[in-house]
Amino acid sequence: MRAELWPDGAYEEHLAEVSETMRTGMNGTLPATCFVAEGAGGELLGFLEVGLRSHADGCDVARPVGFVEGWLVREPARGQGIGAALLAAAEDWARSQGCREMASDTWIDNLSSQRAHEALGFEVVDRCVNYHKAL
Ligand SMILES: CC(C)(COP(=O)(O)OP(=O)(O)OC[C@H]1O[C@@H](n2cnc3c(N)ncnc32)[C@H](O)[C@@H]1OP(=O)(O)O)[C@@H](O)C(=O)NCCC(=O)NCCS
Repeated sequence: MRAELWPDGAYEEHLAEVSETMRTGMNGTLPATCFVAEGAGGELLGFLEVGLRSHADGCDVARPVGFVEGWLVREPARGQGIGAALLAAAEDWARSQGCREMASDTWIDNLSSQRAHEALGFEVVDRCVNYHKAL
């Protein structure tokens, strides 16, 4: 499912990264975890990776923030509340880590993700253009 969300990454890299997070409960130096949604037959319907970030745009700098690192519900299962349930689990996890805020981001052309974020209580903080220059 990670490879579906981020097709640019190699499958083996995704596997290594998620295995490491599940093994250590960390992403780098900060706590992180992954929630999955299963269908009645045990098939995977969606996932949400959440981790702490030391700061996020628009959030109080005084404490870490729960950050939605990855969030996907497989297409046939969308629109049934699964994404909301995954987010609620991630928010409970972030609360248990002492967070008082959640943050997230998405691509400027991903309107359905933006609608889902807003339906679930997120407010837009800003819109960015990222630059790169070789040295
Ligand atoms: C974003 C995503 C995870 C939402 O999952 P989902 O299971 O369809 O979401 P839910 O059914 O739980 O819907 C949650 C809320 O968002 C709203 N919503 C979800 N998709 C929407 C859409 N395309 N347009 C408008 N509202 C939408 C729902 O109406 C619901 O609001 P409500 O609680 O007021 O009824 C899913 O659309 C997805 O996997 N998209 C592709 C990957 C992606 O863009 N991920 C986010 C990258 S950060």
